Amino acid sequence: MSAASPRVLREWRNRVVAEYRSAARTAALLHRMVLAGFPRDVLATAGRIVQDELDHADLCHVVVENLGGGDEPAVLDVGALLGPSEGDGLLAAVVDTVVRDFCLGETLAVPLFRAMWEGATVPVVREALTRILRDEAVHRAFGWRALDVLLELDAEGTRARAEALLPKWIEQYRAAYADRRDAPLLQAEERSAGLIDLHEYADLFETALEVDIRRRLRSRGIAA
Ligand SMILES: [Fe+2]
Ligand SMILES: [Fe+2]
Repeated sequence: MSAASPRVLREWRNRVVAEYRSAARTAALLHRMVLAGFPRDVLATAGRIVQDELDHADLCHVVVENLGGGDEPAVLDVGALLGPSEGDGLLAAVVDTVVRDFCLGETLAVPLFRAMWEGATVPVVREALTRILRDEAVHRAFGWRALDVLLELDAEGTRARAEALLPKWIEQYRAAYADRRDAPLLQAEERSAGLIDLHEYADLFETALEVDIRRRLRSRGIAA
């Protein structure tokens, strides 16, 4: 096929970086969970997720190459790969990654990737999104299970930290996903290469926030 539009290549290059960043941050999370004595099933799933995210980065890179953008490397920022610091203690750093990256990030990712998958017809894109979508449901479940363990270990500290930081994290995701409603609409080729319109992103974001995220937080005694 002919080379994809700059917008499509930029989006898939960004996904390579985002998936690799997820691998790095989950590896750091796994290390902290081992230190904090998390249950074996949680550690096993965290290990699986590191592998999944590396696979996702590879799959997204294959998409970039197949769409004609393989000549430009994806640029990684090592600072962004590090994730939260331990300035406020080990469990606080675990709460930060679990709530921000999993209870928010991975839970938002499921409906967004489903919408991308529904419109994708380019075979290599569909193959990548099929695998990613299947895995993200596991990653979402891991986040909420990990939050339940945190609540068993330190209910008060976990609730206080989550409630203090959730408004900032939600705004960061809203700025990344949902604040660009007036961007130019996608061409059909861009939709078939796995992109969705930004107003659709914005609507899916607000629905997932209310239906999937706030409800689950409230059921755990966390105000959001
Ligand atoms: Fe992923
Ligand atoms: Fe993931």
